[in-house]
Amino acid sequence: MKRMIIAPSILSADFARLGEEINLVQSLGAEYLHFDVMDGHFVPNISFGVPVLKSISHIHHMVNDVHIMISEPLKYIKKFADAGADIITFHYEACKDDDEIFEVIDAIHDEGIKAGMSIKPDTPVALIDQFLGDLDLVLVMSVEPGFGGQSFIPSALEKIAYLRQKIDDNSYNCLIEVDGGINEETGQLCKAVGVDILVAGSYLFGKDDIEERMEMLR
Ligand code: DX5
Ligand code: ZN
Repeated sequence: MKRMIIAPSILSADFARLGEEINLVQSLGAEYLHFDVMDGHFVPNISFGVPVLKSISHIHHMVNDVHIMISEPLKYIKKFADAGADIITFHYEACKDDDEIFEVIDAIHDEGIKAGMSIKPDTPVALIDQFLGDLDLVLVMSVEPGFGGQSFIPSALEKIAYLRQKIDDNSYNCLIEVDGGINEETGQLCKAVGVDILVAGSYLFGKDDIEERMEMLR
């Protein structure tokens, strides 16, 4: 059985103790560190950005998994890459057309890092078929992007199952990640339909039994 990759989202961490929180999830075996960038324009919330990533990207050995919920992603690829991103995942909906999507993917690859693309809950998954061969990761949003602590939207499961089949049928080298409302129950549902990476924020941070919770996700 394939091992599930866990990506704790530091959006739910205690920012006054960010370094400690990062050390904690690393010591519990997290493989990826999920970093949610929100610009107050593409999504109705503002989180953190390049300077914070720069400060934390080298204090750990996990994969810096940077999810940019921002308008005009192309403008910021180099900045996030220079700040230490290992994967940059931008939004399908933030691009004006297919050409721009290919441009963003190329810009990320030109930085020597991995390219991911995310779709919001209302975006039909078949729209991204043509990009799967070029992507290293697809991020299925299982909540409306913008806030931690929301409930899982079940239609994400069909999207994951669809992507699993497409990726396997075509032998694409593309991981499937799911983000939003992940806990021990929804995590298992996603695992059953073939997800590779679980992002979890409010389920993990600030919980006394975080170690057990990490195990439950696996
Ligand atoms: C939401 C972010 C998520 C968020 C998930 O827009 O992309 O990564 O941190 O939080 P939980 O796990 O609490 O739903
Ligand atoms: Zn995210």
